Amino acid sequence: MARVLDEAFAADEPVRRLLGLTRRRMIHFWRACARLYLALDEAICLGAYVDSRLAGAAVGWPGEFSPPLDLGWLFAWRYLTHLGPVALWKLGRFFVSFGRAAEPSKPCVRLINIGVDDAHRGQGLGAQLLAEFAVAVEERGVDRIQLECEEINPAMRLYQRSGYATERTFPAGGVTWHVMVRPLADAKE
Ligand SMILES: CC(C)(COP(=O)(O)OP(=O)(O)OC[C@H]1O[C@@H](n2cnc3c(N)ncnc32)[C@H](O)[C@@H]1OP(=O)(O)O)[C@@H](O)C(=O)NCCC(=O)NCCS
Repeated sequence: MARVLDEAFAADEPVRRLLGLTRRRMIHFWRACARLYLALDEAICLGAYVDSRLAGAAVGWPGEFSPPLDLGWLFAWRYLTHLGPVALWKLGRFFVSFGRAAEPSKPCVRLINIGVDDAHRGQGLGAQLLAEFAVAVEERGVDRIQLECEEINPAMRLYQRSGYATERTFPAGGVTWHVMVRPLADAKE
């Protein structure tokens, strides 16, 4: 999962610049994220496979959920070990302001990350992951998905096509972010 997310977000300059990291060191960030995601019972972690190899991933969790402190520290420790205190401090500051601005206005599941590796883009895997993610959310009896997307990210078109609409915008890390939501009609209790 770390490899796929690292590759998918390789061109995501705002995040890399924000953390002040070289391209090579970002893999440590994604390894820490993947470890955290896979350790959480609350998380929805989906994979898209091509020839039995992971080519895409989508991860989310309930809107009211925040990772427990012990896992937060595990994440921080791994991050700190590999990336140093300055990047950790910047990341912490970014997440605190981002977290406040992106606070969901209604109960929902949040899509935290979605990525497809370069070789398999544009073949519908992203749309498929979004559709499967919606099914997983409905199965939990939740009728709304929220995600946040940078205004400059072409992924916004995919989200709009998949039923997401902008609820509001906010600035963070030098770019404008859209809070996008998708209501789900058929959520089961
Ligand atoms: C967004 C992403 C998961 C879509 O995966 P995909 O398998 O290529 O998606 P699909 O084939 O189902 O749909 C293609 C659509 O993705 C979007 N897209 C295309 N290139 C993209 C890119 N470099 N970055 C983001 N989205 C892109 C476009 O909307 C495209 O449709 P369009 O060309 O008709 O506008 C994939 O492009 C990706 O991993 N991007 C980088 C990571 C990222 O930005 N994730 C979203 C964070 S909010």
